[in-house]
Amino acid sequence: MLYLKNVVYHPPATMTPILKEANLELAPQELGLIIGPSGSGKTTLLEIIAGLAEKTKGKIFWRDQELTSLELQQLGGLVFQFPQRHFCGSTILEELRLGHPEILSYRIKTALQEVGLEHIPLNQSPHALSGGQQRRLALAVQLIRQPNLLLLDEPTAGLDWSMRHQLAKLLAKLKGHWTLLVVSHDPGELFTIADRCWKIHQGHLVSLDTAMFKSQKSQ
Ligand SMILES: Nc1ncnc2c1ncn2[C@@H]1O[C@H](COP(=O)(O)OP(=O)(O)O)[C@@H](O)[C@H]1O
Ligand SMILES: [Mg+2]
Repeated sequence: MLYLKNVVYHPPATMTPILKEANLELAPQELGLIIGPSGSGKTTLLEIIAGLAEKTKGKIFWRDQELTSLELQQLGGLVFQFPQRHFCGSTILEELRLGHPEILSYRIKTALQEVGLEHIPLNQSPHALSGGQQRRLALAVQLIRQPNLLLLDEPTAGLDWSMRHQLAKLLAKLKGHWTLLVVSHDPGELFTIADRCWKIHQGHLVSLDTAMFKSQKSQ
């Protein structure tokens, strides 16, 4: 279980805090969705949960243990928005092995299977993949590390309708093994696969009823 308790983020450069007492609870194998317009603090919140930015106040717990930024870095795997911009391996295999050269090949195989990329040639450049495949590769890179929590920043941004749909299906499948927290300014099909949903409003996380979206979709 992930808990955020009164998390505040107030960098010195801003008049008002970007996050004001953000609270959240996410159970294992749930998909949490945070929506909000551009500039509302979604990426900042993910970076704090991933241990890449330091909150000003508040606490983050995994189960009953409060975690430091370093422990949060171990706990979470963050897939950036437009992850292909961060690829630095010259081949797909190199990309998957970055940071852990000792990784066993079955772990690589399993991660690729989980994202439906088991048939791609590993000696090809990651940039040769389609946009949808690049998202999947970025997910596999995180899955190899076996994080407890997968964090995804705008996973459907820039994809066409069919690729968005496929990605939502993949995330729904990954929920069987992993706990996911997704942020998006354009959630669309992500609503139907979310177990919990919040919107960021003036620095607060306001809980939304996911049952409502699902019944609206089916009408
Ligand atoms: N360290 C910082 N100092 C000043 N402003 C920041 C800092 N971090 C984020 N911001 C500002 O906070 C706002 C929210 O940013 P962001 O988290 O990227 O929003 P979103 O992902 O919802 O578009 C933006 O206006 C951004 O410029
Ligand atoms: Mg963002």
